[in-house]
Amino acid sequence: MLLQARAGQAHLVGRAGTDVLPGTLGLVPTMGALHHGHATLARAAVAENSVVVATVFVNPLQFGDPADLDRYPRTTEADLALLEEAGVDFMFAPSVAEMYPNGEPAVRITAGKLGELYEGASRPGHFDGALTVVSKLLHVGLPSVGLAAPDAAGRPAYRAYFGQKDAQQLALVRTMAADLNFPVDIVAVPTVRDEDGLASSSRNRFLSEEERDSALVLSRALRLLKRRADAHEPLDIASAEELVRSAPGVELDYLEVVDPQTLAVRAENCQDTPFTGEALALIAAKVGPVRLIDNMPLGS
Ligand code: PAJ
Repeated sequence: MLLQARAGQAHLVGRAGTDVLPGTLGLVPTMGALHHGHATLARAAVAENSVVVATVFVNPLQFGDPADLDRYPRTTEADLALLEEAGVDFMFAPSVAEMYPNGEPAVRITAGKLGELYEGASRPGHFDGALTVVSKLLHVGLPSVGLAAPDAAGRPAYRAYFGQKDAQQLALVRTMAADLNFPVDIVAVPTVRDEDGLASSSRNRFLSEEERDSALVLSRALRLLKRRADAHEPLDIASAEELVRSAPGVELDYLEVVDPQTLAVRAENCQDTPFTGEALALIAAKVGPVRLIDNMPLGS
């Protein structure tokens, strides 16, 4: 049965209904308006933990534009149903006042240099806000894991699930967990796409039919780069950018090929020389009123 957990609740009631420390706890942070990408994260957590908590909180701290925050979709009842279907034990859906009882927090996480690139360049302060709330959510869950020992392989009993779809956020959460000694295993889940190839997103519902058609050019450009990388051809990023710009109503923000670990722009053999090694292609564009991001691993 799915219950709505409360802020500060120290111990959660496990699937069997007993108030015990779980062997392992999976945390799935979200902003709600859940779709099958989120469901995949939830199922990954359910598959490998004794208790799973999904959090639903539209975090004001990570929105620069108040209008964007206002219109972010809120679909609590449908979210509850989706999480229950995925086998999640608890939905933690705090109010803004519960999360920030003293108003905006004076002390925050700063995302550093990587937080200023790509998404951070277009959305100043976004990653500071996202990391601050992820840090808070991880702390809310922590008492439920207590001092449960890591498994034989040294894997912590506390796991948090993040989508590869938000590659920069995932890299920053990993960095935060490592730099600040969070006792949690950060688990990456591959990007889930709709049937037409568009990366599933809570914001896709704002696209008109024509805009959605145009938006498909993002994944098409990424697949073009992947084909070239797989064939060890020069990536010719400029032609992929051209392809994106040719779609009606699409305003390309960036298309970058980066190191998959550090997300530093990869200057070597990306443009004119045959592609070797591994990389990640990152893309962001505005399609009509909606800002979309996507990415794809390149190379073996
Ligand atoms: P949200 O956009 O709701 O995403 C919640 C989680 O679902 C993130 O880890 C995101 O990467 C993952 N996700 C979204 N779409 C996905 C897809 N198509 N395939 C795979 N995973 C996908 O990201 C946030 O919320 C917030 O910034 C949050 C981390 C909750 C902090 O507020």
